[in-house]
Amino acid sequence: METPKIMDYNKKTVSELDVRGKKVLLRCDFNIPLDRETGGVTDTGRIVSALPTINYLLDNGAAVIACSHLGRPKGEWKPELSLKPVCECLAGYLGKPVRMARDVIGSDARRLASETGPGEIMLLENLRFEKGEEANDPQFAAALAGFADIFVSDAFGSVHRNHASVAGVAAFLPAVAGFLLAKELKTIGDVISKPARPFVAILGGSKVSDKIGVIINLIKIADALLIGGGMAYTFTAALGGSVGASLCERDKLDYAREAMSAAREKGLRLLLPVDSVIAAEMSENAQTTIAPSGNIPDGMMGLDVGPQTAEEFAEVIRGAGSAVWNGPMGVFENPKFAAGTLAVARALADSGAMTVVGGGDSAAAVRSFGLADRFTHISTGGGATLEFLEGKILPGVECLLPSESKL
Ligand code: 3PG
Repeated sequence: METPKIMDYNKKTVSELDVRGKKVLLRCDFNIPLDRETGGVTDTGRIVSALPTINYLLDNGAAVIACSHLGRPKGEWKPELSLKPVCECLAGYLGKPVRMARDVIGSDARRLASETGPGEIMLLENLRFEKGEEANDPQFAAALAGFADIFVSDAFGSVHRNHASVAGVAAFLPAVAGFLLAKELKTIGDVISKPARPFVAILGGSKVSDKIGVIINLIKIADALLIGGGMAYTFTAALGGSVGASLCERDKLDYAREAMSAAREKGLRLLLPVDSVIAAEMSENAQTTIAPSGNIPDGMMGLDVGPQTAEEFAEVIRGAGSAVWNGPMGVFENPKFAAGTLAVARALADSGAMTVVGGGDSAAAVRSFGLADRFTHISTGGGATLEFLEGKILPGVECLLPSESKL
């Protein structure tokens, strides 16, 4: 079996630069949910995570020109995706004004950027209002870079995007990692490159097709792989089980067989659910029962791992030296199908292992169970975390100065 892929993640960080009196273009990932009715910020996690770098820059006399995308406006001006609510929320956390530009690289942004002085911060309007952002247009990148002397990237959630503000600007400015990005890279990078053993990987969520690359890479690295969530039924079906109306990607059965044979060849423990919580529908009032995962009646769906599976998974997790978890074990948003995800979250929280939760739904689950502070690291990335675990080269990391480079 070929060796696992891991990108070089040792990058120069902002604390190694003299930022005093310098203008800093700071890429954050403020792509956060807004309330549909009020337009207000509903989850401040990514804003709070950006504060250490912002405060460091301000306290050390830098003028900060912050920027981010929000949603997917695809190069169109969409007022409902303005970063204004983010700007207000950020100002509240910083306890100081954050001036909001009315455009991205236009005259208002240019004026505010030139007026922003040491210890002050401004925010550009949503980068994706400009087509040049996603196209990684060099002219757009040069215009962004023109605001500053240094580029600091702290947008871990976006480093898998080859966009102008994520990667393109690094062609024009010295480019280093902020504290959040550095922490994400070190924690996730270390756990996959030199894990404390046994290293247990837990994967869930609905689709195998979303996680093929991750499964392949983790089979090479981990000592045990626990598969739950909707994606497990594709594996169960590949083994000849009856999965009823459960989620199942019939065109991925061969892939599941190959993954299982690679796991066997390596001697990796691959656990699939032995039992499932099943129901005919997903609703709050659904009548549930427990069935063997490979013997689910027609018309019934597996919507959570069952109690025996939860116990088997928890036992493996309890023996882990380190663990990575991505994707819930069931439809945890519905209390009827939350027990499996809760059991995994609790086992990880109690394990004493180094525990990393990849962002997205599993991070939301951990937070909703009130267990967030019992994990070593909850990633702010969704797609970025998956691509990092997959061993892909992330453009927003590759473009940064290597840790050993001279400034
Ligand atoms: C995310 O939320 O995963 C990042 O902000 C990237 O957003 P995108 O998938 O729209 O590029």
